[in-house]
Amino acid sequence: MNFKTLELTDNKLKWIDQTVLPLELSYKSSDDYKEIITAIKRLEIRGAPAIGIAAAYALAIAVSKEKNLSEECIIRIADELKASRPTAVNLFWAVDRMVEYYDKYQGQPRDEIIEELFYESVRIHKEDAEMCQQIGEHGSQLIKDGDTVLTHCNAGALATGGIGTALGVIYTCKQQGKKLHVYADETRPLLQGSRLTVWELQQENIDVTLITDNSAGMLMRQGKINHVIVGADRVTTNGDVANKIGTFSVAVLAKEHNIPFYVALPESTFDYSLKTGDDIIIEERSSEEVTKGFGKQTAPDNTQVYSPAFDVTPAEYISYYIMDTGLRKGKRAKIT
Ligand code: MRU
Repeated sequence: MNFKTLELTDNKLKWIDQTVLPLELSYKSSDDYKEIITAIKRLEIRGAPAIGIAAAYALAIAVSKEKNLSEECIIRIADELKASRPTAVNLFWAVDRMVEYYDKYQGQPRDEIIEELFYESVRIHKEDAEMCQQIGEHGSQLIKDGDTVLTHCNAGALATGGIGTALGVIYTCKQQGKKLHVYADETRPLLQGSRLTVWELQQENIDVTLITDNSAGMLMRQGKINHVIVGADRVTTNGDVANKIGTFSVAVLAKEHNIPFYVALPESTFDYSLKTGDDIIIEERSSEEVTKGFGKQTAPDNTQVYSPAFDVTPAEYISYYIMDTGLRKGKRAKIT
């Protein structure tokens, strides 16, 4: 990759401002955890694993600024970070891991605690990059030379600490010499598909065609899609998957057309504390993102809007979970 989505330099977090892609590849940096929270809320930093990594860095940065470290102050910062976005479990997983790590060092000299928290945040980042590589390796077994893949939203390098989850599979196939064609759903309303997925696939010279979200059914019927691969924000114990709004519709279409539907994710995206997808809190976004997306008003004044950022795809629509630990059969997988 010729860009770094997140990077810790001189105890500051540097990130790509994804709100201005694809027109500008612009970096921001800060050593103020509140500015990192704002960046997460504004989707300058987005994608479940990337949000978790950024929050881990933010916690280490925040702690390094505290004169009097205490359990209460760590919990307060952790809670502020967790309130930035509700659906991606990686955020909660990474922040809790940092708090547990702090607990291990509580009582040690302040400088040592701070140094250790920075080490732990870097480890979370590195581990995510390694998990992406493993996901890519495992997922590539499902794809052959000449196949076409549909993806929704952006589950690539921009969304993770490494090569991505869904797109990690595509990059790994390319490295193996397989020629693939990717269809990228535009992904309304914030266009992560057209702005981010198409941009990053083009950086890596992957053959990609942008389609509007409502075209997938027609392409599937025409036999143009062999596989669907998406990422995930949270997967519950029964295998239900929360991911970008529109994922469920694609899964239903894939089932109807007998096209395998894969979810690529690291182990940290599983939430074993929740039984089913009904228990997942779904973030709602502001009406302006729909009525005035990217500047131009496209609905009458005072239009009522409902804009969930994610939906839940029930486990019976999923053929395989492509994980860092290997391929896990979903309820839709053929029993062999
Ligand atoms: O609102 P976003 O852009 O953060 O939503 C991102 C997604 O839905 C991704 O598919 C998901 O986080 C997986 S990223 C590996």
